Amino acid sequence: MNSEEYENLKNLIRKHDYNYYVQDDPDIPDSEYDNLFQQLLKFEKNHPKLISQDSPSQRVGIIPESSFASFTHKKQMLSLANVFSPDELNDFFIRVKKRIVDIEKFDILCEPKMDGAAVSLIYENGILVKGITRGDGSIGEDVTSNIKTIKSIPQKLLPSSTINIPRYLEVRGEVYISKKDFDYLNTNAMKNSEKVFANPRNAAAGSLRQLDPAITAKRPLSFITHGFGECEGFDVESLSDFFEKISQLGMPTNNLNKLVDNMSSCLEYYESILKTREKIPFDIDGVVYKINDFKLQERIGFISRSPRWAIAHKFPAEEALTIIESINFQIGRTGVLTPVARLKPVKVGGVIVSNCTLHNIDELIRLDPRVGDQVIIRRAGDVIPQIVKVNILERKKNSLKVTIPSSCPSCGSDVIQENASDWGVYDNKKQAKVKTFGSKIEANYFIESDLERFELKEIINKAAFIKCSSDFTCPEILKGSLIHFVSRKAFDIEGLGQEIITTLVKLGFIKDQSDIFKLLNHKDELEQLDGFGKKSINNLLASIQESRSVDLSRLIYSLGIPEVGEATSRNLANAYLNFEKVQNASFKDLVELDDIGSKVAANIINYFQDSHTTSLLSKLLPELSVNKIKLLSRKETPLKGFLIVLTGKLAKYSRDELKENLINLGAKVSSSVSKKTTIVIAGENAGSKLKKANDLGINIIDEDNYTNFLNDPSKYI
Ligand code: IVH
Repeated sequence: MNSEEYENLKNLIRKHDYNYYVQDDPDIPDSEYDNLFQQLLKFEKNHPKLISQDSPSQRVGIIPESSFASFTHKKQMLSLANVFSPDELNDFFIRVKKRIVDIEKFDILCEPKMDGAAVSLIYENGILVKGITRGDGSIGEDVTSNIKTIKSIPQKLLPSSTINIPRYLEVRGEVYISKKDFDYLNTNAMKNSEKVFANPRNAAAGSLRQLDPAITAKRPLSFITHGFGECEGFDVESLSDFFEKISQLGMPTNNLNKLVDNMSSCLEYYESILKTREKIPFDIDGVVYKINDFKLQERIGFISRSPRWAIAHKFPAEEALTIIESINFQIGRTGVLTPVARLKPVKVGGVIVSNCTLHNIDELIRLDPRVGDQVIIRRAGDVIPQIVKVNILERKKNSLKVTIPSSCPSCGSDVIQENASDWGVYDNKKQAKVKTFGSKIEANYFIESDLERFELKEIINKAAFIKCSSDFTCPEILKGSLIHFVSRKAFDIEGLGQEIITTLVKLGFIKDQSDIFKLLNHKDELEQLDGFGKKSINNLLASIQESRSVDLSRLIYSLGIPEVGEATSRNLANAYLNFEKVQNASFKDLVELDDIGSKVAANIINYFQDSHTTSLLSKLLPELSVNKIKLLSRKETPLKGFLIVLTGKLAKYSRDELKENLINLGAKVSSSVSKKTTIVIAGENAGSKLKKANDLGINIIDEDNYTNFLNDPSKYI
């Protein structure tokens, strides 16, 4: 290779880097890229003197820094003023218009507001020479070696036939980590017992400030341009002009940017970005509106450290700071004790949050939250609130670690602990309870009477949890079981909410599920109770009466057998047709059924072998009349053999309705897309499931096609 060929090879690799990291659209396979890169490394190894600083091989500097040099920005890196409402945005437009009274129509560039770390990148004659953090806006830190490790930042600007490479160009933008990369980073960190980051912004900022660039290189950092600083020899008239030209020179720009020309279009942009926020691959905390034309920008001017020609319109915060007021353990219907933090109420993600689950003991140990601690909580979209960080610096000196209870806070029974390695996988990827036999760890089916041993292939890391050992004599377990028993998908008893159940359990009217059907005998006493009128008691008793006649699948589901949900219950009902047969099913028969693995089969066997179950059923079954299962003919089940997935928001049907409908026609409805899926019914804003279905080449229909599909399902296979 001569020096000209070396130059060409570097340019070629740069072009591929650009396609891969900026455009997300590689045009050669990875293996071919690796091949080119190897050629480059080989040449440079043989000609070390020819290695140029801008070579793609020089992204990771070898020498760790001892500290970062400070760097004074030639032009201040400004911040943005915020608005939170259309009214405040209107004020912004009034202020702008006051300064340009003679111009009525002007363009506004709308951009997502990235939640990362701002940096300034200096290119001299097209070569990246410096990367500086924002710092305080005037002085930042020189993190050039780290910046060079970011693959979407070109080391050298791409040549363009229409734009001259500027002599000096300072590109400003946001370094960030995508949500997917962040999850991957944290999962790995957790696995290796390394530091877990609170959010992608902290991870990005922290990664930029690593003294060893080799560490930064391992972090999945990306970059998007949102402005510029000092420039020489770069002729641009407006922001949109700048973005177009800079993108041609190889800098990553945001394809969600949009040019509009009035305030109501700005608000439409805000709403559309807010609506798709979950699906945007990186964290954003609002949108930014900027007057597009530079001459107008100049006329509008600045106030102290922010421009008057731009404003950030913030989304409701997804993170908030609050204080832990107490931590206690909630007992679910399976007896599992879940640590829950009670918080000083705080608004986050648009709702007031005052409780936050800590999931399990592992999480409790990892976070070590204490009463009085200041915490950051996060609630994104419909996701349940999480504690993402405990602010240890603000911790009170006398704070105490949470003690893991050794007895149940509700009934005082001993607490038993299931450890992380309690479950294993044996052949066929089936799961079983781990047992130790002598020095050898093996598995059995979790049934003492039917001991079968298997050599373990792998131990599953299940989070440790603690359980009340008393089963159904514990009032909290009883309450949880009753709430499940009367819920909509089980006995569907209207008027028997959580509070009434608590009262009736407390007063001793209900000791188990069968007592619900004996409430009629206590009608007079019930009517006397505070808050229970004659009418509501009549309605309640009527609803109970009605629920006595129950479908087999609902009865199975109502029992709350661990891991036996709605679909499995329906499966069991259709396979066995009567309750007695389900009760007496053998382990071997159960695992033969579709979708029932050994763990669920073991749960079913254990449940029916339990003496508490026997005693409960002997009281409950006489109260009920279990509806006969109607065997449907082939004609009535045209969707038999169809495995259907529903995704996105459906307009005409509720999801439950549609699901019920499909199941009644013989289809199976699953929540995840796989090769076995026959059809995906996609509503509005369908996300990853739709993508996966597309990737796997699965038939996709929208709601409008649903009737066509029912008319002739065979066409869709
Ligand atoms: S423009 C003169 N555009 O927000 C305007 N900033 O609050 C200066 N940011 O430090 C910034 N997305 O880190 C601009 N599309 C965007 C942005 C953005 C995120 C950050 C940036 C800046 C901070 C200002």
